[in-house]
Amino acid sequence: MTVVTQASELTAALGNAGQPRVLVPTMGALHHGHLALIRHAKILAGAQGTVVVSIFVNPMQFDRAGDLAAYPRPREADLAACRAAGVAVVFAPEAAAMYAPDHSVTVSESQLSRNLCGAARPGHFDGVCTVVLKLFLLCSCQIAVFGEKDFQQLAVIRRMVRDLNVPVVIVAHPTVRETNGLAMSSRNARLNAAQRADAPRLRRALLAAQAAFQAGTRRPAELLTMARQAIEASGLARMDYLSLVDADSLESVEHVEGPALLATAVFYGEVRLIDHVCLVP
Ligand code: PAJ
Repeated sequence: MTVVTQASELTAALGNAGQPRVLVPTMGALHHGHLALIRHAKILAGAQGTVVVSIFVNPMQFDRAGDLAAYPRPREADLAACRAAGVAVVFAPEAAAMYAPDHSVTVSESQLSRNLCGAARPGHFDGVCTVVLKLFLLCSCQIAVFGEKDFQQLAVIRRMVRDLNVPVVIVAHPTVRETNGLAMSSRNARLNAAQRADAPRLRRALLAAQAAFQAGTRRPAELLTMARQAIEASGLARMDYLSLVDADSLESVEHVEGPALLATAVFYGEVRLIDHVCLVP
């Protein structure tokens, strides 16, 4: 496995351009969710192809300086996990290697980013789009794998690829969860014991609302109230947002007539977690 920290070293490390190159962009603190994406990337790359994992805690997508500073960076463990997973190249640049001090061009998505995490974290998806496009260009990958856990991120990136004719196929991977249902996240490591024990309620609350929906409850207000009460019941989780949106446009829905998404973000102390379920009439 080759570890590259400078963009200028990437071309040599990436080798044969004729074979499929599959990128898994991450911010590190790798867990089983990331590793599932890497395994999927290995299959997509095939025996001759190359899997590239980027590890970069992208300052441009953080809206809170404290969150950026506290983001875990277990570099040696991440490299060991990549090595064990059969990754060919890890691209792990420093911020200075990614952004010129006077950088002034960004990619901005203006529709899908308006609600959910985009509303709660202004500028977040501009940061994501900008860094992801840079990573696509630097790694000249044909395929990139993203997790469905970050549903809005996946939708925004697909839109960027469509609207800017980016020659990269976006492949989605389902959310990987702990056995208690909690979606795996690099941020889970920052939860204290009580918060960690409480956090699976997020998934349970969303599943209960999904079950009510399947049993015939269609009014968004009713579903939202039910989920909100279940999430807030212990008093440990502070709601950032809870929304019912159309699964394609990510706009709020008055009546669920097509596939919809019940999505939430909560704070446990300073730690922000997200999750969602799909509602399909
Ligand atoms: P990060 O949070 O490290 O996630 C990297 C990739 O892993 C994303 O595609 C994310 O959706 C996926 N992922 C995370 N947890 C997952 C889980 N439990 N199950 C399945 N997939 C999961 O998302 C980012 O980094 C950044 O925004 C990035 C795209 C790298 C741009 O900086």
